[in-house]
Amino acid sequence: MELPDSIKTLGEQVEAGGEITPAVELFDAYPVFAAEVAQLFTRPWLAVDHVSRLAADGDYFRAEVGSRSIVLVREASNRIHALRNACLHAGYRVCEEESGRSDHLFCQYHGWSYALDGRLTDPQLRPELTDRSRFRLPHYAMRIERGLILVDLSTLAPEPPPPGPVDLGAIPEALAEANVSSRKRYPTTWNWKYLRHLLWASPELAFGGDECSDVAEIGPLSFVALRGDEAALVRLCPRFPGHTDVEIVRLAVRDASRPPVNGADPIEEGLRRHGDAIAAAPLGVLDRAFYEWYWPHLSRAQSS
Ligand code: FES
Repeated sequence: MELPDSIKTLGEQVEAGGEITPAVELFDAYPVFAAEVAQLFTRPWLAVDHVSRLAADGDYFRAEVGSRSIVLVREASNRIHALRNACLHAGYRVCEEESGRSDHLFCQYHGWSYALDGRLTDPQLRPELTDRSRFRLPHYAMRIERGLILVDLSTLAPEPPPPGPVDLGAIPEALAEANVSSRKRYPTTWNWKYLRHLLWASPELAFGGDECSDVAEIGPLSFVALRGDEAALVRLCPRFPGHTDVEIVRLAVRDASRPPVNGADPIEEGLRRHGDAIAAAPLGVLDRAFYEWYWPHLSRAQSS
């Protein structure tokens, strides 16, 4: 894969060890974003939510990473699927809603229907497709560990691919029984790199700015922050070069979550302050440490 010049120049600066002067394209250009989707965002693993979000058979929700859309669906308690959210007919989404419950998936564009395991059940207006067993939405590799739904966007196959290993660090087993105390999405008009830099450097922000005792990083776009009997799953959702959502799922074991402080949301406040820093010096926010993490992921494209 040929990398955009702005990334190659950045890589040369990282390897030279001197000053780094990033190009503006690194934060607003679609070719850069496309290279990041292919080389970085799809690396294993991505923690998408807590399993309690799929509490009943038929529950589903949608997760987005760049141009990739995934639908997580529970067929049965031991059959949870991570399906590519793209109709086999012409690629439209089979799941438009953020979340819901149903006994099937339905593409609104021309009416094709799918079972919850992705099998095509009713190809409207295409009665000649009599052997439907060959038609099914592809599955991403996924696993549920310590109550977290983990998806590997690098592995896609007609049948659920065998999941690879994952390192969950200090995340306690008890998280499997945790309750979700809040789930909130924060939309921003920033490139994802600004948000990763902020949140990975200040994981306590996921608790509203209080202390954080440990962090378990899960792939390039998600981590779990820990504090006593509480945890916060933080997931970046890069939508476009200049639009990134942050989703924070607060989890509490044994009703341990501290009551929210009334008034302004401290997470929103922290993001707003970071926005001021970005506006003041958009090319100066990220440091060498960030680029030394970033470049090795992207440089793999040159050798593949
Ligand atoms: S794109 Fe789904 S039915 Fe046509």
